[in-house]
Amino acid sequence: MESLEKTLKSGQRGIKKDKVLKYVINQQHFCTTTLTRELLKQNAVSLDALMQGIALAMLAGLFAVLVYLLGMYQYEYSDPYVRTVLAMPGEVQHGHAIFQMNCSSCHGLEANGRVGPSLHNVSDHKSRVALIRQVTSGQTPPMPQFQPNPKEMADLLEYLETL
Ligand code: HEC
Repeated sequence: MESLEKTLKSGQRGIKKDKVLKYVINQQHFCTTTLTRELLKQNAVSLDALMQGIALAMLAGLFAVLVYLLGMYQYEYSDPYVRTVLAMPGEVQHGHAIFQMNCSSCHGLEANGRVGPSLHNVSDHKSRVALIRQVTSGQTPPMPQFQPNPKEMADLLEYLETL
């Protein structure tokens, strides 16, 4: 360093000064480019790791959702009440009568909707299990929780599916 300063200070060696400056600039250039290259390399590596992490997290999320859905499916079908209802043939006429007695005050005599929504085509967006749960769970107030016996529920289900 000392000799470098000396060289720079010495006015009579003008050419050498230029040479030294060039050398220093070259050195700096070399340093910065290698440094940037090095940084870029590291960046690329961490970007890869990041992408891998994201992909893994997404996979894990998907897996969790699948497990959850499978669990819910198993859980719902393992409910003895639901299984009994699903195994029973229902009678539409009976179901209609049960509906008019219990449900029409809110859903209308022909299920066209009043306080409660119209139930036409309800089976398009609710599975048989979901319909049974809708009637028996009481989870969507103000709709009350009903406890029809399995035969009544099967009839009701049959009726709801004709709407
Ligand atoms: C006290 C009023 C009331 C009575 C009685 C009632 N419901 Fe409901 N029902 C509702 C309301 C309100 C909703 C909307 C609940 C929500 O999703 O927030 C609903 C929703 C439903 C749904 C889901 C509709 C959809 O589009 O997903 C079905 C199916 C249903 N009721 C069937 C019945 C049946 C069958 C009965 C008779 C056993 C019944 N309800 C009795 C008020 C009632």
